[in-house]
Amino acid sequence: MTINFEKSSIQDSRLFDPIKVGNMELQHRIVHAPATRLRCHEDGMVMTELVREYYSQRSSVPGTLLITESIFSGPKSGGFTNIPCLYNEKHAEAWRPIVKAIHENKCFVFMQFWNLPGELKPEYLLDQENLENISQGECPMDPTGLPAALGGAFSICGKELYMDKYMSKYDIDEHISEYTEAAKRAVFQCGADGIEVHQVNGFLLDKFVLNGFGENCDPNYRGTYENRVRFCLELLESVVKAIGQERVGYRISPYSDIWKSKDHMEAHMYMVQQLRVKFKNLAYLHVIEPRAYWTGHQQILQEEGSLKYQKLWNKPLLSAGGHDRDSALQLATQDNVLVAFGRYFLANPDLPFRLKFNIPLNRWNRAKFYTKKSPEGYIDYPYCEEFLNKTSEAKNQKVSCGKERIFN
Ligand SMILES: Cc1cc2nc3c(=O)[nH]c(=O)nc-3n(C[C@H](O)[C@H](O)[C@H](O)COP(=O)(O)O)c2cc1C
Repeated sequence: MTINFEKSSIQDSRLFDPIKVGNMELQHRIVHAPATRLRCHEDGMVMTELVREYYSQRSSVPGTLLITESIFSGPKSGGFTNIPCLYNEKHAEAWRPIVKAIHENKCFVFMQFWNLPGELKPEYLLDQENLENISQGECPMDPTGLPAALGGAFSICGKELYMDKYMSKYDIDEHISEYTEAAKRAVFQCGADGIEVHQVNGFLLDKFVLNGFGENCDPNYRGTYENRVRFCLELLESVVKAIGQERVGYRISPYSDIWKSKDHMEAHMYMVQQLRVKFKNLAYLHVIEPRAYWTGHQQILQEEGSLKYQKLWNKPLLSAGGHDRDSALQLATQDNVLVAFGRYFLANPDLPFRLKFNIPLNRWNRAKFYTKKSPEGYIDYPYCEEFLNKTSEAKNQKVSCGKERIFN
């Protein structure tokens, strides 16, 4: 990515400095970006042992913030198999040990929730056959965790996935109440530090902001910017009332124009202004940088990227998309900026350690991103030797593997 800061230099970087985000005292500014991996049972029950191992590995440097993969907040949010759910007691029970493992490693976790943009066609609903092979081979991946559209947004290999559905006020309220219940479960039952709202890449909330329903939704939720962001603001209102602003992060992809709205940047500007006015104590704003990921994303060569939004937000901001060590160091010369890594974090369990000491990174294996229920390409990426030496040294000296031992 191109970043051009006139006045700052990498020596000024605060990437490895502690920062307070929400109620959390993070020890550095490298974040695990949300990454859907399909390591769940068909019914959406997370595979506790396997997923616990994954997050436990990624929380090997104390003081790290991890954002989980997208989770379905209610039966109507989803429909795909092998994606985790959190809308009943059993789901919560399956997640609890995972959160516990992250906390035992002195790290923090926000659980991300999403909703699909319409109604899945019956042939795809909980269907193994049709979706079985979508993750294999060279099929390009989109940044929300599903294989990229090959024939247009929200289709896979040229097959449309969704039916249009008129979104009435009743539907909207139903989603808000499901989302709020899921947020409560995440924090009060699973023990998570917070939740991340997913208003990204044309999925349900983003579809409203981008006016993607056209006339196919309640008139108070379409047309003007004020109307288009209404669903998101009402949802936030309800969620923060239930769990508190400091426990909520908000993710946007302002450079994606899936629904061809033409004014997606302006709409997001308006949204961020509203956040600043109404929810200025949210834990963070999370912005996906301009990069061409998949159909619908614009290739904007824009020097500022997320910092354009930071000028409005001016509180903790996470930047994601295409970062490497240099771009992260450079971006973190700005105060209040954290850098989220997707592919590098899934391929490097000890990523913050490697970045700190400039140790070469493992390359990710794209073919195994979405291998359902498999440990391969998931928990078998190696730690670097330096990290293993450092941790065993700490163990031999019978001191805790706190940040003093591992990170300094
Ligand atoms: C396998 C995979 C799954 C992803 N799943 C999600 C997801 O569930 N939710 C989300 O908001 N973004 C998701 N993303 C996007 C990442 O959070 C991140 O924005 C993207 O990978 C770009 O960052 P990177 O260049 O560091 O990989 C996913 C990305 C990958 C590669």
